[in-house]
Amino acid sequence: MAQLWGGRFTKETDKLVYNFNASISFDKKFYKQDIEGSIAHVRMLAKQGILTEEEMQAIVKALEEIQRDVENGTLAITDEYEDIHSFVEANLIKCLGDTGKKLHTGRSRNDQVALDMKLYTRQEVLSTDELLKGLLKVLLRIMEENTETIMPGFTHLQKAQPITLAHHMGAYFEMFKRDRLRLKDIYTRMNYCPLGSGALAGTTYPLDREYTARLLGFYGPTLNSMDSVADRDYLIEFLAAMSTIMMHLSRFCEEIIIWNSNEYQFVEMDDAYSTGSSIMPQKKNPDIAELVRGKTGRVYGALMSLLTTMKGIPLAYNKDMQEDKELTFDAMDTTKGCLALFTGMLDTMKFNKEQMRRSANNGFTNATDAADYLVNHEVPFRDAHGIVGQIVLHCIEKNIAIDDMSLEELKAISPVFEEDIYEAISMETCVNKRLTIGAPGKEAMEQVIALEKEYLKEDWREESGK
Ligand code: ARG
Repeated sequence: MAQLWGGRFTKETDKLVYNFNASISFDKKFYKQDIEGSIAHVRMLAKQGILTEEEMQAIVKALEEIQRDVENGTLAITDEYEDIHSFVEANLIKCLGDTGKKLHTGRSRNDQVALDMKLYTRQEVLSTDELLKGLLKVLLRIMEENTETIMPGFTHLQKAQPITLAHHMGAYFEMFKRDRLRLKDIYTRMNYCPLGSGALAGTTYPLDREYTARLLGFYGPTLNSMDSVADRDYLIEFLAAMSTIMMHLSRFCEEIIIWNSNEYQFVEMDDAYSTGSSIMPQKKNPDIAELVRGKTGRVYGALMSLLTTMKGIPLAYNKDMQEDKELTFDAMDTTKGCLALFTGMLDTMKFNKEQMRRSANNGFTNATDAADYLVNHEVPFRDAHGIVGQIVLHCIEKNIAIDDMSLEELKAISPVFEEDIYEAISMETCVNKRLTIGAPGKEAMEQVIALEKEYLKEDWREESGK
């Protein structure tokens, strides 16, 4: 049991208490950030004359060696340390003796852990954004290839009006684009450095917080030392953003599962992204899509959990806050894993264009356009709606589409119909007449695709300086 704080204690910590309190099993995840933060801290201590240049050089060198040894497997992060901070400091002292003991001058584990978690999370925000961008690229490719691929659009999961596959994919493009904006927004709000806040009330050493903030790529230091060690808002915001990403993925997965069903057959999953049944040889199951949908609950759970943990914590640091890590790490790994797998699944999925087209033809998706035809021939809309309702009833009885009716049959219901009705209610006309920006018509879609292409050229991550 290696602890940093034995001095005022006369008894060993109970083993169960020690285990309950320890965080090494999960905070070892940010060993790199802990070392990065310590290096910035000692550089600043030397600049301020609190440590000598030689002491600083020795500490930096030893810290870099510790990192190397962890990474090449010669130094294991084991449970004998309470947390990652103790692990690094103990190994530094083992290496440098008294000089190593100077590392923690003007610092508390409270500002240290706040920094480590922020550095780690900042990296995760960026890598999640990168994965989102990868997904957007796949979506844009599918959009470009399918501005003429007609499929039914649904409301209430009932066929409604014809759209194109490009248009349907474009809806998800917008969702994931907003997700990226949320990440950018979180980044700009969180990117301030808590290091130098001490336990809660700053420190009496003449620290240069601007300097460490800059060394670590932050916009500047945080402005209240109590808030700095007690703030986990950025984690809650990130968990909320990840929950929204998962919600979008989950909706998409739900559609893919429906499209992949025997009844729909709109898509076929690549063999590499589907699974079989142990008993039914004919099965090809969309397990990946189902798992992504399922894991969404886990990420929501993490958000609820941290909100609840934080709601009753008085200022400033309290140990409850150690609970932020496991669930946030799990949500980060889950979201990134799902994004990567989903992107691969979508990229390799085959769209059955004939089947989509057939489905659009067979579902009265052109009924609105038939009514609009009548309106264009002076029939009031409410009457037109009633006439087309009768036509649909007739078609259902005969198990045919509106286009299959002869002109005589149509005229028997309304004499307004002429030969040009067939052109007016063809799937192509239905789609391509919808040309307001954001609608599925080919020209409108091409305008949007051009805008999205431009959007994908710029990258906020490059400007973030990381
Ligand atoms: N493991 C702790 C955490 O995750 C580190 C901070 C410990 N600070 C303290 N005063 N006990 O929050």
